[in-house]
Amino acid sequence: MNFDSLEGFLSHSKSRVDQYLNTAINQRRASGVLSQAMAYSAVKGGKRVRAALVYGTARACGVDGAALDPLAAAVEAIHAYSLIHDDLPAMDDDALRRGKPSCHVAFDEATAILAGDALQALAFELLASAQGPQISAEKCLAMVVCLAQASGAKGMVAGQMLDMAAEHDAVNLAQLEHLHCLKTGALIEASVEIGALSQGDISTHQIDKLRSYAQVIGLAFQVKDDILDIESDTQTLGKTQGSDVINDKSTYPALMGMTAAKVRLVDLHQQATESVTEFGAAAEPLVWLADFIVTRKH
Ligand code: IPE
Ligand code: IPE
Ligand code: MG
Ligand code: MG
Ligand code: MG
Repeated sequence: MNFDSLEGFLSHSKSRVDQYLNTAINQRRASGVLSQAMAYSAVKGGKRVRAALVYGTARACGVDGAALDPLAAAVEAIHAYSLIHDDLPAMDDDALRRGKPSCHVAFDEATAILAGDALQALAFELLASAQGPQISAEKCLAMVVCLAQASGAKGMVAGQMLDMAAEHDAVNLAQLEHLHCLKTGALIEASVEIGALSQGDISTHQIDKLRSYAQVIGLAFQVKDDILDIESDTQTLGKTQGSDVINDKSTYPALMGMTAAKVRLVDLHQQATESVTEFGAAAEPLVWLADFIVTRKH
């Protein structure tokens, strides 16, 4: 399938991953309320940037097809779990997510914690079951390791720990960058790496270029998120504007000022597009996604 714009590519990615996740959750229906809470937070919500990065990277490497759907669904399931837990009273205590009451508000805290736990397990089940004619057992295992490392104690969860510890505490720029690269960058990098692993014989050089792209857009994503928390509004964001200020979070604008944060964003965007130039037209969606990450309004 060919695309001529970011909008077309994003909506295609969104509908594929939504359909796959919806079916996956329905097929595993255990307690009705648990499945409802999982679907409430994971299906038909969000921009689906991480899914689009899986599809976009695979495309840059010459791969497409239904075998990618469980990979995209796995990263979005981890992301949805992380947002449910991020919104809990013990963490950011946010009552609004994706334009709706947060999971713990719509259901209750215990259900939200368990829905997050179950989405995390589902992600690994989907990924570990993705092996087939297009994805070898070896590549599939590498994807599972990649997602586990990115989301665990040396990745996203470590970043969330640092984020909580940095509330009310001044951190320096290197510490803030480290925190952002872990809490948000790690899963974005994993989305790109998993997309790249779907190509059986990708070269080390190509993997390195895609990793560089992923590292800078991962950081850029959180810098932009910090800027939007100040400059956007609750209606547009679908989450409470000003939450970082209320929680006294360590953010880019708080540490370096808004102007410098925006300059950094432009710089990261340029580095991202340069990293994928040698992939030519096949990497167009990755360039669109880098543009979107820094220009998005929500
Ligand atoms: C929000 O991520 C949380 C961060 C890591 C900054 P997104 O902005 O991708 O959230 P959705 O998936 O579109 O709701
Ligand atoms: C969340 O970062 C990162 C993860 C969920 C891992 P934020 O706390 O900045 O995300 P929002 O602003 O609530 O979406
Ligand atoms: Mg948070
Ligand atoms: Mg939050
Ligand atoms: Mg935020």
